[in-house]
Amino acid sequence: MLIKTVQDAMNEQIKNEFYAGYQYLSMAAYFESANLPGFSRWMRAQSQEEMEHAMRFYDFILDRGGNVVLGAMEGPTVEFGSPLEVFEEALEHERTVTAQINALYGLAAGENDYASQTFLQWFVTEQVEEEKNTGDVLETLRMIGEGSEALFLLDRELGNRANVEQPEAG
Ligand code: FEO
Repeated sequence: MLIKTVQDAMNEQIKNEFYAGYQYLSMAAYFESANLPGFSRWMRAQSQEEMEHAMRFYDFILDRGGNVVLGAMEGPTVEFGSPLEVFEEALEHERTVTAQINALYGLAAGENDYASQTFLQWFVTEQVEEEKNTGDVLETLRMIGEGSEALFLLDRELGNRANVEQPEAG
């Protein structure tokens, strides 16, 4: 049986992960409008990953005999000034998620909830990867500055991200 404090915090994290997905989807729309389809594809993939993260918590709560309670979400950011600004916000967001995961891990450890700690290990590792991937793009954008040719090449490179479905044609 899942301890109530851990269950409540995991329900909150379902919302946080969906919110991250919502943010990335909004960023994908910005890039699509800015004629940067590779960036948009990268963000769509990121958004899908966040939905999967949310569902991991969802399934875990149910597997432990807990109650899933979905909370209300705020709207995402809808206006962005530049690709650099988007990735600054994305990295900031990932750091927030890392702090959320660490707090959850600490809570589970304090409650001697070993199953939850084992489950959360995956997220601890995943956050290292998430911050690295986002940070790498941000660093490249900082190096590029205003160079539109380099931005075009980066867009092509990011578009090669494999784990996202192409939008339906037509
Ligand atoms: Fe689910 Fe990007 O953190």
